[in-house]
Amino acid sequence: MKHWRISLTGGEGETVAFDCPEGVSIHAAARTAGFRLRVACGSGGCGICAAELVNGQVDYVSPISAAKIEGCPARAVFLCRATPTEDCCIKTDWQWAVVDKAPLSRRMAINQQGK
Ligand code: FES
Repeated sequence: MKHWRISLTGGEGETVAFDCPEGVSIHAAARTAGFRLRVACGSGGCGICAAELVNGQVDYVSPISAAKIEGCPARAVFLCRATPTEDCCIKTDWQWAVVDKAPLSRRMAINQQGK
């Protein structure tokens, strides 16, 4: 199974990176890596998880609301349903939360070992 590297920059410039397996949503991969993204419906219908795809490519694990994505900037991506098809850099204007209580440096080291 392929793994893609996701670099995520939050609303205050904080950056983390984690792996996302092929076919898994970026939201689910972030959660596994210990980060909680801003997600509400989780089904591609509300647009609250929209972020900017700075570079890379994504596909969607299931359909998203065409009406919601039409109102977003051209490089918008819905993280609850997007799955990468290559390494991606993503920027949000909101902050993600740390779920795992381990220090960030330890989580990053663990994440690096799993690659
Ligand atoms: S959380 Fe609703 S579209 Fe992603």
